[in-house]
Amino acid sequence: MRYSVSILLPIALQYASPVLSFTKRSGSMSAPRSKVSQQHMVLKDPQQTEETANWWMEYEFAHADVAQKCRPDFNILSTTTIGEKKTPLVYLDSAATSQKPKQVVDSISQYYEKTNSNVHRGAHTLSRQATTAYENARDSIASFINSNSRNEIIFTRGASEAINLVASSYGRANLKPGDEIVITEMEHHSNIVPWQMIAKESGATLRYAPIDFEKGGMDVDHFISLFNEKTKIVAFQHVSNVMACVNPVKDIVKEVRAKAPEAVILLDACQSVPHMKVDVQDLGVDFLAASGHKMCGPTGIGFLWGKENILNSMPPYMGGGEMIDQVTMEESTYAPAPARFEAGTPPIAQAVGLGASIKYLEDIGMDNVQAYEHEIAAYMHRRMSEVDKVNVLGPPVGEDRAAVCAFYVDGVHPSDLSTFLDMEGVAIRAGHHCCQPLHQAKGISHSARASLYIYNTKEDVDYFIEKLDSTIKFFLGLAKGEGGEDQGDDEFVPFI
Ligand SMILES: Cc1ncc(COP(=O)(O)O)c(C=O)c1O
Repeated sequence: MRYSVSILLPIALQYASPVLSFTKRSGSMSAPRSKVSQQHMVLKDPQQTEETANWWMEYEFAHADVAQKCRPDFNILSTTTIGEKKTPLVYLDSAATSQKPKQVVDSISQYYEKTNSNVHRGAHTLSRQATTAYENARDSIASFINSNSRNEIIFTRGASEAINLVASSYGRANLKPGDEIVITEMEHHSNIVPWQMIAKESGATLRYAPIDFEKGGMDVDHFISLFNEKTKIVAFQHVSNVMACVNPVKDIVKEVRAKAPEAVILLDACQSVPHMKVDVQDLGVDFLAASGHKMCGPTGIGFLWGKENILNSMPPYMGGGEMIDQVTMEESTYAPAPARFEAGTPPIAQAVGLGASIKYLEDIGMDNVQAYEHEIAAYMHRRMSEVDKVNVLGPPVGEDRAAVCAFYVDGVHPSDLSTFLDMEGVAIRAGHHCCQPLHQAKGISHSARASLYIYNTKEDVDYFIEKLDSTIKFFLGLAKGEGGEDQGDDEFVPFI
């Protein structure tokens, strides 16, 4: 059963009064609404008349069976109780972390019930089995991203650790004052802060390419103009977790190779590997970072892919067991990759779970995943852009974009939106999404974000849109005051 805003309103007001008291019309949140280019429509966009305004009602996805088939595997999606509340769950926060199918959950419990042991070190059967399970997961990743060799896959705690590994190990060994690291303003903090840290330590300069908000993506020409002989590292996202744009990796790689022959390229593929076929050899980068928990896998696991010769030229990131060749009291020598970068007992059960999540995605087929997400992304984007006062960041309707819509509403704080939507059972994210520089460049402090994955349906999107629309109307009604007059306070005070 869905609860309506009117039923929840008194409760909502109780919860939200401290929130509401800070929500005022925002000067900084009122950037002009980006123009929607009609000729780029993927979904047919007839002139909006009374009849065509309801175009979405009969709309059908060609690949709807992707969600229909996989949805029963995600028990959490049929939950009716979240915390203290009885509510359905419309989960629109998969860019933060995806839900996990029962196949993944089962693989982890079965590992603990039947195979649990330490890896690489026991002469007993269980240890051999655990080692096989762990190393099989490495093979699965290697084939999933078309790695040249299984030795190029390093298990990490997540993408953040993968990027930190490269910044610390490669950066420390190769950067000196005068060198340059080039990234973009749209990066996740995980692909900014490690570079700031190593730039400070090494004396290298960190340079940022700006975002073209009109176009809804990175300013590729500007990015390319920053590459030169001083460039030693180029790092950027494949797909933005806020802008939803898909960056032209191969074009950028070509320019780096031509202009910055000494540079290595790291691709943050957190938002692409779970959603599309990613082929590291085809992309031509040197390193790629991804997280397991965004691709139906468990938390606490991700991976770094790196070219084997580069990995073996890098010093270890951490010292400890497993990563050595020989240890004497005076010094140590190190094992080659991947062991060199996997000190200590690794996240074995998590690796097994990640292996199961890759099998799960492969069984659906990454082409099907991508085709379905493309449809539902375009659908949600167009529907959101038809909600009054909603400004969606990223490429305009009809252009290629990921299944992510970060948005802001003039006069309504994103956290108010997410709090109210949460009371209706809709989980969206509000905040800076670990992209403060991106928000600063746009001149807003926060945004809300709805993000989709294979299990989301048209009904999820329709329900979200209905509740988003009524929530916005409610807040804008409040802002106008009882007499319908705009209170006219342009100052915006964020409460987080
Ligand atoms: C684009 C991007 N990069 C990096 C990260 C960090 O990933 P992890 O949580 O695996 O460290 C995220 C997670 O939100 C992300 O979306």
